[in-house]
Amino acid sequence: MKFHFLVPCLMAVQVLGQNYHLDIVTGSRKYDDSDGTFRAVLSGQKGSLEFGVLDNPNYNDFQLGAMDNFQMSSGEDLGKINCVTLQARGSKSDDAWMVDYIIYNTDGRYLSSDTSEGDDEKDFCRQGDATYTFEITTANEKWADTDNIHARITVSSKGNRGNTTTGILDNKGIDDFVLGNTDTFVIPDLKNVGKIGCVTLTAEQDDAWLFDTIKVTRGNQSKTFKNTGKVWLSSDLSEGVDYLEICQ
Ligand SMILES: *[C@@H]1O[C@H](CO)[C@@H](O)[C@H](O)[C@H]1NC(C)=O
Ligand SMILES: *[C@@H]1O[C@H](CO)[C@@H](O)[C@H](O)[C@H]1NC(C)=O
Repeated sequence: MKFHFLVPCLMAVQVLGQNYHLDIVTGSRKYDDSDGTFRAVLSGQKGSLEFGVLDNPNYNDFQLGAMDNFQMSSGEDLGKINCVTLQARGSKSDDAWMVDYIIYNTDGRYLSSDTSEGDDEKDFCRQGDATYTFEITTANEKWADTDNIHARITVSSKGNRGNTTTGILDNKGIDDFVLGNTDTFVIPDLKNVGKIGCVTLTAEQDDAWLFDTIKVTRGNQSKTFKNTGKVWLSSDLSEGVDYLEICQ
């Protein structure tokens, strides 16, 4: 008989707390992984939450390319989350960690457009409310394909009055940038820069890649950028460039 009372009671406790989830994706380059100690702080419109030390007990977190999940309950509603701040702490804080991106409660995707290393603290923020779609066609030419380029795209407004930068372009579980293929990347939480002016590509890996076109779409606005100079991208500067701006 007692169970009749127990069940509704447990349910009441669950709805009172707000459950916050972070999925943190570690980069897949050599040395991106870490054994360091890190804390996370969530900043929302109505307040912030100390997420504490990120550690799943008895598990080696932050391995290359891994997605680690952390959860925390709070009695407070923080409102819309704008940033996740990661802080390095303790004696192992010199073991750098490269975070690719953070997913908050499965819906927001938080990117850091700051690619510098070695900071004690780094913010991963929503850049805005715009969703951009990038349709990228890899050239149909020997060696043009890549499976490891770590490319990001910055979209700048006409007249360069603002810009927004994607995380590393990678559709998880899909072999991107195959010869002659068109890959579609839908990236939410970017900034609306208004009329699209230029795209800038950066490459952080040395497996050279040659693309033909990049079509950028936001809402009903769309613009196609052609790689007319057939410029190869690579972080190995004997094979290509690691920075390419196209304005058309
Ligand atoms: C993006 O905007 C920032 C701030 O104005 C600027 O420093 C940076 O050079 C811009 N990046 C590109 C690729 O235009
Ligand atoms: C594009 O969308 C905007 C806002 O939704 C609208 O104001 C504008 O008229 C649309 N433009 C065209 C060409 O459909």
